[in-house]
Amino acid sequence: MMADQTIARVEPVRTEAYLDLLQMLTGVGLVAFMWCHMILVASVNFYLIGLQGRVMDWIAHFFEATYMAQIGGPLIALTMLVHFVLAARKLPFRAREQKAMWRHTVNFNHFDTWLWMIQAVTAFIILIMGCIHMWTVLTNLPITAAKSAARVQTGWWLAFYLVLLPMIELHVGIGIYRIGVKWGFIKRSNREALHGFENKLTIVMIAIGLVTLFTFFFIVRVM
Ligand code: HEM
Repeated sequence: MMADQTIARVEPVRTEAYLDLLQMLTGVGLVAFMWCHMILVASVNFYLIGLQGRVMDWIAHFFEATYMAQIGGPLIALTMLVHFVLAARKLPFRAREQKAMWRHTVNFNHFDTWLWMIQAVTAFIILIMGCIHMWTVLTNLPITAAKSAARVQTGWWLAFYLVLLPMIELHVGIGIYRIGVKWGFIKRSNREALHGFENKLTIVMIAIGLVTLFTFFFIVRVM
């Protein structure tokens, strides 16, 4: 090597790691919101034991009277957008990239790569459908069991929710699993068991959502 040759020193780049961390934090926040949301909306099921929509109406009133819905709603939308933009660093947007991604996934045929594929496809669908849903609900306050039921019983809304529900639960379930693998909480030794747990959780959340939609569609009387 020549004496005067300068050797370029490459500084370790931390930006990517910070962006990944922020992606994980916004993701965990959205998962926590989604689980709370599904359980709170499921309060309409008290209708099944004769309490009508009283519990759901009371919960909705609490969130609106404290302005948590009016302020929290747009904040959730913003978090979703930030989370998507951070994830978009790795998502294939061009047709050529998408074809290559599909080819590699088929060739690798590795379970976790398929999970990534589901994660990427559901991300696009959730972003669009989630925004439509939030706009519809938040621009028509107050939330009441009767109004929500009227919506679910009208037009294409039931079909809309029957698509959005599995999309969101798959995305949430796979997201939690992938965070565990990426940040080292899930190791070779516990990977199988935690994956089984995540699958069961996804099924339970979809089941809760389906019962809720059943109640909105068939049980709640619309004035
Ligand atoms: C703060 C924002 C949000 C509010 C206030 C809200 C409120 C509601 C309400 C009142 C319902 C009952 C049905 C209706 O009225 O149309 C509902 C259902 C639903 N929401 Fe949201 N939502 C929010 C955000 C989200 C997000 C971000 C997602 C997913 C991307 C989502 C997914 C769903 C699904 C799948 C249902 C169907 C009900 C079920 O299967 O349990 N929501 N939401």
